[in-house]
Amino acid sequence: MKLNKNLVLVGMMGSGKSSIGKILSKKLQYEFIDTDNKIEEIEKKTISEIFKLNGEKYFRNIEEIISLKFLKLNNKVIALGGGGFINLNIRKYVQKKCISVWLDWKNETLINRIKNSKKRPLAIKLDNLKLKSLIIKRSVMYNLSDYRINCDKLNKKEIVEKIINLYENS
Ligand code: S3P
Repeated sequence: MKLNKNLVLVGMMGSGKSSIGKILSKKLQYEFIDTDNKIEEIEKKTISEIFKLNGEKYFRNIEEIISLKFLKLNNKVIALGGGGFINLNIRKYVQKKCISVWLDWKNETLINRIKNSKKRPLAIKLDNLKLKSLIIKRSVMYNLSDYRINCDKLNKKEIVEKIINLYENS
């Protein structure tokens, strides 16, 4: 089987990395990997429980180990957690070996999707203003991915088509 570069989705919480990733994986006939799900499976705890019981530093450490482990495989569509591409080691590896796409949305769209989300321990403790500054700060890093899709005016099908096009022509 031909070994192809992994297609990696980056972006904020609520940017649709998992739902878009699942569709992409079917189209490309690649396995889909959501690093947050892998962390939950391996740790046998939800992300919220890990944040609560072990703290964010512990989470970031296992996020790096587990993300790198799966990034090293081939022919996968991988959805990183929102903080994954902010980690230098993960980012360097993705930039060198994978094709990365940033799912970008207007700040307000993201804030409305993630505020009060019980599944997202980082977002729950931030008010709208703090969430906005987190998005702005992280966007500098997300912008280091290979491609950026402005998702606001597109439907899911169009987003997927754009990504497949970029991936197949890269
Ligand atoms: C986080 C995003 C989450 C998850 C964790 C931390 C972040 O993933 O990894 O709650 O720092 O942005 P999603 O982007 O899949 O929600």
